[in-house]
Amino acid sequence: MPQTVNVSFLPELSSAKRYVDRTTVVIDVLRATTSIVYALASGARQVLPCVHVAEARQLAAEHGRQAVLGGEREGRRIDGFDLGNSPTEYTSEAVRDKTVVFTTTNGTQAMQHCRLAKRVLIGAFVNFSAVCDQLSQEQHVEILCAGTKGQITREDILLAGAYAQELHQGRGGRPAQLDDQAAIAAEAWSRVRADFANGTPLAQSLRDSSGARNLIEIGLERDIEIAGQIDRFDLAPELDLASWAIRLP
Ligand code: MLT
Repeated sequence: MPQTVNVSFLPELSSAKRYVDRTTVVIDVLRATTSIVYALASGARQVLPCVHVAEARQLAAEHGRQAVLGGEREGRRIDGFDLGNSPTEYTSEAVRDKTVVFTTTNGTQAMQHCRLAKRVLIGAFVNFSAVCDQLSQEQHVEILCAGTKGQITREDILLAGAYAQELHQGRGGRPAQLDDQAAIAAEAWSRVRADFANGTPLAQSLRDSSGARNLIEIGLERDIEIAGQIDRFDLAPELDLASWAIRLP
């Protein structure tokens, strides 16, 4: 049986039931999933994704001095939080051995949407190959794009397409079968990959997206470059569904 790869361009476009017993990768390139990879790469013990700000504050209080409170609303650090949602804020000085309690507008909500999955991986361009290798070993793969407030975002589709294309080309030893959203995403990625192969930095292609425009507007343009560094880390963080904590295996 060929491997199957399905993409959902937005949580709103798929029901939670679709993820039952499936291995899923959640994508929010700008910036939630990129920042989570940075936090764990910097030695954070775990990242606890929360939907609501109040829930995050409460959880951080329970973890006391072990907790670092991070995240954003409207792209900006939340009042009273230690960190915002720029990947480079998650340095080892800030998070080593700590529990990062984390809430963002779309990324942490998307994780809730696939709570019935068998496995949930955290995907970004900065850890592309590590996650792709995990996906290549699975029979059924679901790729969930977080989008922005119910709108499809190009940067997430491009990463979904990069996974879909790799798997379709047989990274798992056999060519994967793509659903229509996966095929559309793979086509979008092919065009960007051709530019990339001709020397255009990925970050330049990512700039042409609504997520990037929001960041540029609030002066966080540098985060786009950071998010476009393919394979900076060889790490595949996974959300432990029982404890609702993201850790490295
Ligand atoms: C999100 O989860 O919505 C994003 O990470 C938003 C952002 O980075 O500002």
